[in-house]
Amino acid sequence: GQYTASQRKNVRILLIGDAGVGKTSLILSLVSEEYPEEVPPRAEEITIPANVTPEQVPTNIVDFSSVEQSDEALAAEINKAHVVCIVYAVDDDDSLDRITSHWLPLVRSTCSSSSSTNTDGEPDVARKPIVLVGNKIDLIEYSTIDSVLAIMEDYPEIESCVECSAKTLHNISEMFYYAQKAVLHPTSPLYIMEEQN
Ligand code: GTP
Ligand code: MG
Repeated sequence: GQYTASQRKNVRILLIGDAGVGKTSLILSLVSEEYPEEVPPRAEEITIPANVTPEQVPTNIVDFSSVEQSDEALAAEINKAHVVCIVYAVDDDDSLDRITSHWLPLVRSTCSSSSSTNTDGEPDVARKPIVLVGNKIDLIEYSTIDSVLAIMEDYPEIESCVECSAKTLHNISEMFYYAQKAVLHPTSPLYIMEEQN
């Protein structure tokens, strides 16, 4: 079958990651172009009109909050999303470790348990494209990119990674651009053919 990703009429971006890494702050910083000192647990779903996105595609941005949402609601959002941004805080090693111990396996298992089998050689197991986002780069003077590149070697669905700061707005628009690009111009094979017997 033909990949249809590049013909998408919209892009749905979901942000997940440990509590406190700055998911809600990233979304609100993008929308208001300033850092919100106080944020709710979860941002309202927002739609960015096509004409103000770099790829000219209407883009929905969806926040996740473990306080407000159940595991079932998270699974449903992962399935609805076209790309998942896994956010960690660059000053919090635990949030980085949880990318491989929790979040990447969760996205994989959620997608494979909901995919259906078909008989004519179409891709069966869809791997959701992922962008790894290291937030709070304003707090440290080193980079976490070496650790992230090692993770990328094991998870080909990771399309790109970026370090940014909701506080200084550093790389905020880039982060959402990379997410759009991961859907519209994926570089890695996002589908695994089921083995034929
Ligand atoms: P949950 O909703 O609990 O899952 O957390 P979250 O990932 O949405 O994080 P949230 O946006 O609520 O931010 C958590 C804390 O980190 C808040 O005190 C923010 O002000 C702070 N924060 C967020 N982004 C940054 C950043 O780029 N730099 C710094 N220094 N602090 C940040
Ligand atoms: Mg939040």
